[in-house]
Amino acid sequence: MRSSSPSTFVTAIIPWYRSVKRPLPWRIDRNPYRIWISEVMLQQTTVTAVIPYYEKFLKRFPNLKTLASANESDILEMWAGLGYYSRARALFRSAKLLQALERFPETHSELLALPGFGPYTARAVSSLAFGEPVGVVDGNVIRILTRVFDLNIEWWKSRSKIQIQDLADQLVQANEANGPVDPSELNQALMELGATICTPKSPSCMICPWNHLCLARTRNSISNRPSPKPRKKMEIWAWFPEIHQRRDKKILLVKNDYAPFLKSHMMYPGRALQLKKRPNDFDYKGAVTHFEIFVNVVRKHRQPPRPNAKDSIWISSDEINSKIPSTLIRKALDAKTKD
Ligand code: ADE
Repeated sequence: MRSSSPSTFVTAIIPWYRSVKRPLPWRIDRNPYRIWISEVMLQQTTVTAVIPYYEKFLKRFPNLKTLASANESDILEMWAGLGYYSRARALFRSAKLLQALERFPETHSELLALPGFGPYTARAVSSLAFGEPVGVVDGNVIRILTRVFDLNIEWWKSRSKIQIQDLADQLVQANEANGPVDPSELNQALMELGATICTPKSPSCMICPWNHLCLARTRNSISNRPSPKPRKKMEIWAWFPEIHQRRDKKILLVKNDYAPFLKSHMMYPGRALQLKKRPNDFDYKGAVTHFEIFVNVVRKHRQPPRPNAKDSIWISSDEINSKIPSTLIRKALDAKTKD
């Protein structure tokens, strides 16, 4: 580690964290199940938004056993509003696998083998629940570390990710004044710093426990750290969703394998076409990552396609409104019913 030693950083941040830490519901103990659920939810949205979902979820599924023996549809229902159902499905698959084990795996290497456990979640659970001395790297930590060490690196590339992971590991493996740092405390201190002080825009450097150690601050490069990631070029697409309704009013959704946006999401069958310029005529438009999408809902259409059962469902319009997180998809129904 350049400049000051890891211990200097740790000694400055831990007392700060102890004095400001929020009493969050997943911090009341070191139960791996409770910590795991919180970390998966926190990948979807902010702490404030997660708390009510978390409390409701834990009331319904208070431990691994109840989650592992639940119905997937009940889990998805509790997840509605958090988005990314694929994470909830992976959570369920992992719950069943974990329930079959004799003990909850305590290291990130073991956890990485489970569905939905990527480098972030595996390290968050192993360090917060079991004290494994590994750094937990998310967007907040990338921002903090590129600032304090003033790293002009391409943080989205694997070589730089390794560099950041290495710095984060050195911090959790450091000593404070009276012994080794508690990995759970240090990792959560970094999360707290990123959420409350070292924010993306207008960070509160005046009250930062690391302000005297921060190289980007001295060099006036905070607004360029992390270095901006080159944007993918915007693409213009036309989407022609077909709304096929049965006599019982249920509507067909298929797994999207025809449009490059919202890949593998359940959506209406139809067509997608890349355009050179923005069209004048469309029902509504939306944007998903680097796709600008102009939507024309198809009113008169062919026979319903016969997709294979695994990749299609017929659902009611109420369910579409409550279970489909993408507004781009939901709005097609409003556009059709307005005719
Ligand atoms: N963001 C991700 N994990 C968190 C945690 N354990 N506490 C606060 N914010 C977080």
